[in-house]
Amino acid sequence: MTIGKFITIEGAEGVGKSTNLEFLQALLNEHGIAYIVTREPGGTVLGEKVRELLLSISDESLDSIAELLLVFAARAQHIAKIIQPALNDGIWVLCDRFTDATFAYQGAGRGIDPGAIATLQSLVQQSLRPDLTLILDMDPVIGMQRAEKRGALDRFEREQMDFFKRVRAAYLDIARADPARCAVIDAAQPLAAVKIALLSAVRSRFKLS
Ligand code: TMP
Repeated sequence: MTIGKFITIEGAEGVGKSTNLEFLQALLNEHGIAYIVTREPGGTVLGEKVRELLLSISDESLDSIAELLLVFAARAQHIAKIIQPALNDGIWVLCDRFTDATFAYQGAGRGIDPGAIATLQSLVQQSLRPDLTLILDMDPVIGMQRAEKRGALDRFEREQMDFFKRVRAAYLDIARADPARCAVIDAAQPLAAVKIALLSAVRSRFKLS
């Protein structure tokens, strides 16, 4: 059995990850490829509880290291229960955010040493890395305007604009450092153009027609 492909989709707030995930699913459906869609933080019973802890507003502020460890605790469970079993069965995994988000948000956003994040990455993931990471890029000012239209802002969305600028820059740095894995998609284009760019990145990476 061939192992499934692992695709992650990333970007700062309001870049359109959900819509683009739908485009991706339609492409895989056309090709008869079996896949699951999942997300981080989340994807398991434990992960969804952690997501709630991470996104909700509380009177007690969340320590950055506690935040980092919660993200990786959810990720360990997600890999063990969902991601690795699916890949082992030849099923593709489409994941809304993964460890690049940790380097972007906890690393660049919160200022945690990327070396510490890389240590946890090795512990939790061993050799597991995405086959393709789609990074949706846009000016965070526009992204936050979109996020604000969706309703009440979560704990991350309440951060200052400087935080989102650091997150965006970190994603672009990650893409520059690992061009074989990452494709940056200009998410500020009209949606039809975003769709074409995204699908062509996936087609060329996996040699789909
Ligand atoms: P979203 O999936 O709806 O965009 O929300 C998830 C939030 O969690 C988002 O603001 C980014 C944040 N996050 C981190 O800070 N670190 C991580 O490792 C992940 C996966 C998400």
